[in-house]
Amino acid sequence: MDIFRIEGPVRLSGSVKVKGSKNAALPIMAAMLLAPGKSTLKSVPYLSDITVCSELLNSLGCKVAREQNGDITIDSTDVNNPVGDYEIVRKMRASICILGPLLARCRKAQVSMPGGCAIGDRPVDIHLRGLRELGAQISIKNGYIVAEAPNGLTGSEIFLGGPFGSTVLGTANVLSAAVLAKGSTIIESAACEPEITDLANCLTKMGAKIKGIGSPHLYIEGVNELYPLEYQVIADRIEAGTFMAAAAITRGELKIENCRLVDLMAVVDKLRNVGVTVESADHGCVVTHKGTIKTADITTQPYPGFPTDLQAQFMALLALGDGNSVIIEKIFPDRYMHVAELNRMAANLRKEGPVVIIAGVEKLMAAPVMASDLRASAALVLAAMAAEGTTIVNRVYHIDRGYEKIEERLNPLGAKIVRENV
Ligand code: EPZ
Repeated sequence: MDIFRIEGPVRLSGSVKVKGSKNAALPIMAAMLLAPGKSTLKSVPYLSDITVCSELLNSLGCKVAREQNGDITIDSTDVNNPVGDYEIVRKMRASICILGPLLARCRKAQVSMPGGCAIGDRPVDIHLRGLRELGAQISIKNGYIVAEAPNGLTGSEIFLGGPFGSTVLGTANVLSAAVLAKGSTIIESAACEPEITDLANCLTKMGAKIKGIGSPHLYIEGVNELYPLEYQVIADRIEAGTFMAAAAITRGELKIENCRLVDLMAVVDKLRNVGVTVESADHGCVVTHKGTIKTADITTQPYPGFPTDLQAQFMALLALGDGNSVIIEKIFPDRYMHVAELNRMAANLRKEGPVVIIAGVEKLMAAPVMASDLRASAALVLAAMAAEGTTIVNRVYHIDRGYEKIEERLNPLGAKIVRENV
């Protein structure tokens, strides 16, 4: 198993290019099930989650290949086995996003229920509620979601809001099913994340009829058929935000290329609040920080609010703030596995339910730490680059799920990260 050995403190400087978005690519890859034939997806990152998604689509009867030029081709002509097997689905929760497309394409689907998750309780009840509204009969058998719509799906008016607001993959599933349903569908309280906008734009290019893209109100006119396409997924805003926090926590200066500031307004606002300079530049931005890190309060919210997927990285940053800050996690209230690990690095964090009170410290100290999930591991890498001494980050496989060869991209900027297999 790989670990990272990270020397600190370092100062990052130079330019780095953001890769394509994992969270846009996954529901888009699943949506290729809707159009029999060969599609080509561009800018899909090299990540273990993408490999699992490819394995999953292949198990359904697709032919998925990574071309020399990095494109992914998906031939969905022969989708002959609409079953999302537990052995694959247990590796990646996002596998659930094949459910809607399979139901629309094959009028039946069996998908293993996603299991537990380090970031907290993650039910799929809203996904199922939305698909039932489209006329699917759904039951749970032996750990599998069994869904059928022998006469096809029928458009409906669907409210997709939940206890924590909208659901991203729930919206992806219901939208991907509604585009081939008979008649029209209205989705109220749809997620507005840029990844959902990218999916809706991709479906539109395949021949779907969708209005209200980018808003919580989606109007879908069902069509009889969709067509394969060539499509480029958007840049990864969470990766971009992680690099921004890396520049800030190391008092560095980074040119972040292929980064869409418009997708990160809440994040840029917080960075400027704590004294970081963020300047727009062609195809990206320049993030600079010299002095102290000021305090800030952060509440995670559905887009366009502050993203929960940057909560851990900003906690590492605010741990070095010149006073007290507060973070409230409103999307995944238990998403705090990184708190104890950061405290091992001499941070001063106190968790009270969904709230963490951060008493800023002068400096962080190196320590052996354990990654528990994708974004927590990114926060530990950031903290280690700012900490004094050599930090060992265990279970690096978590970071490989969402960041392509992170050490090979940070080391040229001045980081000292060694990957070791132990
Ligand atoms: C997506 O997960 C992302 N994953 C997550 O990123 C991200 O944290 C999350 O959206 C929120 O932005 C992908 O896109 C692959 P939700 P998703 O359904 O769709 C509750 C990362 O680090 N809920 O929007 O699974 C749920 O428990 C990952 O890249 C229900 O109650 O998240 C949560 O509290 C981690 N019932 C809230 O809604 C449901 O049926 C939002 O979850 C569905 C969700």
